[in-house]
Parts: sequence; C-alpha cells; structure tokens
Amino acid sequence: MKILVTGAAGFIGANFVYYELGRFPDDEIVGLDALTYAGNLETLDEALKNPKFKFVKADITDAAAIDALFAAEAFDLVINFAAESHVDRSIEDPGIFLRTNILGTQVLMDAALKYKVPRYHQVSTDEVYGDLPLNRPDLLFTERTPIHTSSPYSASKASADLLCQAYLRTFGLPATISRCSNNYGPYQFPEKLIPLMIANCLADKPLPVYGEGLNVRDWLYVVDHCKAIDLVARSDRIGEVYNIGGHNEMTNIDIVKLILKALGKPESLITYVTDRKGHDMRYAIDPQKITTDLGWAPETMFADGIVRTIDWYLTNRDWWERITSGEYLAYYEKMYGDR
Ligand code: NAD
Ligand code: DAU
Repeated sequence: MKILVTGAAGFIGANFVYYELGRFPDDEIVGLDALTYAGNLETLDEALKNPKFKFVKADITDAAAIDALFAAEAFDLVINFAAESHVDRSIEDPGIFLRTNILGTQVLMDAALKYKVPRYHQVSTDEVYGDLPLNRPDLLFTERTPIHTSSPYSASKASADLLCQAYLRTFGLPATISRCSNNYGPYQFPEKLIPLMIANCLADKPLPVYGEGLNVRDWLYVVDHCKAIDLVARSDRIGEVYNIGGHNEMTNIDIVKLILKALGKPESLITYVTDRKGHDMRYAIDPQKITTDLGWAPETMFADGIVRTIDWYLTNRDWWERITSGEYLAYYEKMYGDR
C-alpha cells in the first residue's frame, strides 16, 4: 500500500506518519507539506531515517505540483490532514483558510479522481457542527447533527467536508470523512491551548484564559485519533462520515489549573483576557457509530495522556523553543499584547 499523507509535518499528520510506520512497516508513506509556520520538518527527523518514508515539500493548492506527484506515484490511499488549523488566526485573516482548506481539498480530490486513487480520506473536525449549550449536557454531536459553523476556520472545514460529499455523490470519489474533537499530545504547535499553557507556565508567563474559561472541549489523545483515522480509511465503509471523540469534556479553566498543578506553578499566573470572537461554548462528540461499525474506542485516559504530554514538552524543549521564536513571537504580541 502506498499512502499520501498531506500536512505530514504538522501535529496530527506527523503523529499519523509515526503510527503508520510502526503499525504497517511494509507500507510506503509519502508525507507532503508546504511547511507553513505550523509545519516543522524536524518533527519528521526519525521518519526520514525510514526507507519506507519520503517527504515532498508542496502546497496542496498548487494544482500542477499535485498533478505531477499523483502522476509519478500510484497512491492507494490519500489522507488529507493539510490545513490552516488555528481558529484565532482565521479570525485575523480568513483568506488563507479558504484557499488552503477549501481549494486545496478540491485540488487533491481532482487529482484523486484523475488518477483513480482507490481511496480518499478527508480529515474534518467537530467544529463543523457549531457548538452546544452548557446547560444541556444531554446533547452530543452525532453524524446527523446539522452543519452550523461559527468561525472562518470552521466554515472553511465545513466547506471542504461538504465538497468531499459532493465529489462522492457526483463523481463517485471513493471517500470517507472523519470529524474529531480537540486533540492533544506531542508535536502540537504552542499556539493551541494545552501546549501554549505548558510553555507559558515553564516561562512563568501569564496564562491567557479567554472570557471566563468556562468553554468546554472534548479532549482526545492524538494517537487515539490516528488509530481511528487508520481504521476508517482502511475499512470498506466508502461514503461514511464518522465522529471521533474522547468522552472527555473539560472546561478550559480546569485544564489550565491542572497544568499549573502538574508543573508546581501558582494559580496567580492565570490572566483572564478578552474572549475570542464568536467563541464556541461546548463541543461534545457521540462516537457510537465508529464504535459499533469499526470497534474503535478511546484508549488513553486524559489523566495519563496529559502527564505524558507535559513530560514530552519538558523533555523536548528544543523542539518548541525553536518554533516559538521569529514569526510566532510577532503573532503572540499581536494576539495577546494588549488583549
Ligand atoms: P497543524 O496546523 O498542526 O498542521 C497542519 C499542517 O498542514 C502543517 O504542517 C502545515 O504546514 C500544513 N499545511 C498548511 N497549509 C498547507 C498547504 N497549502 N499545502 C500543504 N500543507 C499545508 O494542524 P493539526 O492540528 O495537525 O490538524 C491537522 C488536521 O486535522 C486539520 O485538517 C485540522 O482541521 C484537523 N483537526 C484538528 C484537530 C485538532 O484538535 N488539532 C481536531 C480535529 C480535526
Ligand atoms: O474541535 C476540534 C478543533 O480543536 C480543531 O478543528 C482545531 O484545528 C483545533 O485548533 C481546536 O480548536 P479550538 O479552538 O477548540 O482549540 P484551541 O486550542 O485554539 O482552544 C481551545 C480552547 O481554549 C478554546 O475554548 C479557546 C481557549 N483558549 C485558547 C487559547 C489559544 C484560551 O482560553 N486561551 C488561549 O490562549
């Protein structure tokens, strides 16, 4: 099997590459990435030592480059992780989100059709469902929940998701789609909640909590997400959409306090800042369908996963300290400077 993994130098894409190389040593993997601010080739250092892995620097919106790659390699499976992924950045500059997340997906699907790739998997997100109220803990997102988006990021991901369904129905693209909740784990860029709070804690910097910190996310250890995508993409369930979630709802403030405690830092570092515009209140996934159809269930308890994640950031300071210089410093100042 030859697999194209787009967004391979990002957080989930890289974790997926390592999962596949470990689990299916005979498969060949081509990791593609444009190496935007969020992509880091260093993350793939170990994978690059494996003769079954090859890296290609390319932009998924570059139709000529993607066509040439598909012509040269006979892919059996394409998994599209490549995206602009940070909600706050989408509020500052929506354009790049529409280009990469929508048009890039179209370019990949056109190539998959042209070269008759037997399987395409679109990595979507639970943000396509909008949010749930805090006072209705009985409500969960199912695959039948209407698409209803809040941010330019989620609107662009929903557009790609719908476009994938359109290619499936209109052109017969043999596709599957997964919609996962918030991931955490190694190699996550420190602009996202958990690594940002760990990095700030270690530097004794203020921990910027949006609004009152009462927003709820359903956290899943990244390797559990990778296992789920692998199961869906290798299954015979063409045309299906699967929700993936951790059954692990937590408020942001509880996560922040847990990180402070684990690192032995005072709660006085918490700073409540202006809320995110259009901030989704609560995400909660019902993953029953993937459990029933494919036998998937989250394996890593949050209590273990968060300790593993904090340890990873403690022992891999070089990795995140290098990427939190340069462009990231300017971003941080712009987003948090006078918030
Ligand atoms: P990330 O930002 O860490 O990684 C995205 C990668 O895509 C980066 O390496 C970046 O360089 C690359 N990329 C960006 N634009 C590109 C382009 N035009 N061409 C080629 N590569 C490009 O994001 P992530 O958290 O790893 O998310 C991966 C995917 O999973 C995204 O599609 C995201 O929407 C989805 N997702 C993420 C989460 C989460 O909690 N992080 C949850 C559900 C779904
Ligand atoms: O649910 C899946 C989505 O999860 C993915 O599709 C996105 O790619 C991913 O970025 C993530 O989106 P969120 O917006 O939920 O993640 P983020 O880490 O940006 O924020 C998590 C929560 O923490 C959210 O309620 C906002 C809050 N927050 C975030 C940051 C960066 C803060 O309070 N302070 C912060 O500094």
